[in-house]
Amino acid sequence: MFVAKKIVLLGTGGTIAGTSPVAGAGTGYTAAQIAVAELLDAVPAIREVARGGVLAEQVSQLDSKDMTHAVWLRLARHCEQHLADPEVQGIVITHGTDTLEETAWFLQSVLAPAKPVVLCSAMRPATAMTPDGPQNLLDAVVVAAEPTACGVLCVAAGEIHGAREVRKAHPLRLNAFSSGDVGPLGWVEERSVRWARDLAPVRPHESSAGQMVRGLPEADLWPQVEIVMSHAGVSHALVKALVDQGVDGIVVAATGNGTVHEELEKALEEAERSGIVVRIASRCTEGRMPGAPDARWASANGLSPVKARISLLLDLIDDDLAAAHDEGAAVE
Ligand code: SIN
Repeated sequence: MFVAKKIVLLGTGGTIAGTSPVAGAGTGYTAAQIAVAELLDAVPAIREVARGGVLAEQVSQLDSKDMTHAVWLRLARHCEQHLADPEVQGIVITHGTDTLEETAWFLQSVLAPAKPVVLCSAMRPATAMTPDGPQNLLDAVVVAAEPTACGVLCVAAGEIHGAREVRKAHPLRLNAFSSGDVGPLGWVEERSVRWARDLAPVRPHESSAGQMVRGLPEADLWPQVEIVMSHAGVSHALVKALVDQGVDGIVVAATGNGTVHEELEKALEEAERSGIVVRIASRCTEGRMPGAPDARWASANGLSPVKARISLLLDLIDDDLAAAHDEGAAVE
């Protein structure tokens, strides 16, 4: 007998939960005002789609421009706990659009979930004349309830994007997200999902199943990784300040296929000599930087600079854990 499983709805804030004192206004609002349980109650059709029920939990309530590593860690722990529950079909997370792509890549990297974890947002506040949040929320639940879905996904304006490629590409329009030249993974059409291509980019890692989340230290112990941009007229000033600050890693938002201004290159070589790990990502918003085989620094495997920062951060945490493990083994 088929028994419908439940959907977990985690609230983090964003415009989807935003309100304006001016009835119907689409700008000049405050994000993260309405509780996620209230957003759920405003869309009765969700309960028709999620026949196993919906469990709503508020994880944070913030404008995503202010997202922190501590909130990411809390969110990942909530996800890990619910994903391990055999009664849970999938997770929907309400989130602001501004840093959604970063949270998506972080969660994909640490969870690589076999079940769908769907990030859902809105470009207009809940009090707008025609808010886009309710439809996006319903669509996200449709995807979370879809048996063929897996991995961390973003659903907005009827499009489904994968965590690796998705980026916010427009500051205003309703379909603000893009997967660049690969296009969306699929679409939500009248409560059903149509995949455009294989879900390989978000398929689970064999060994993951939350292992990485359990290994993560508290957020105040995470390494410091910053982004600098290579641009015309760039100086060594920012890199020098980062060296003085003692950061652990620097991601360079490089030009084109990973090229770096000669002034910045000299500063980065200096940084590397002081033990800072340098990684290169491209400023280009389309395509995937293959990098040159003789490149001076490791490339970020085609990730955007903000996602490359997350990958380097997690690699450095892994290195720290491995070093602590080796030290422990040597003492025994
Ligand atoms: C936010 O990112 O929290 C505010 C902007 C938005 O959700 O569109």
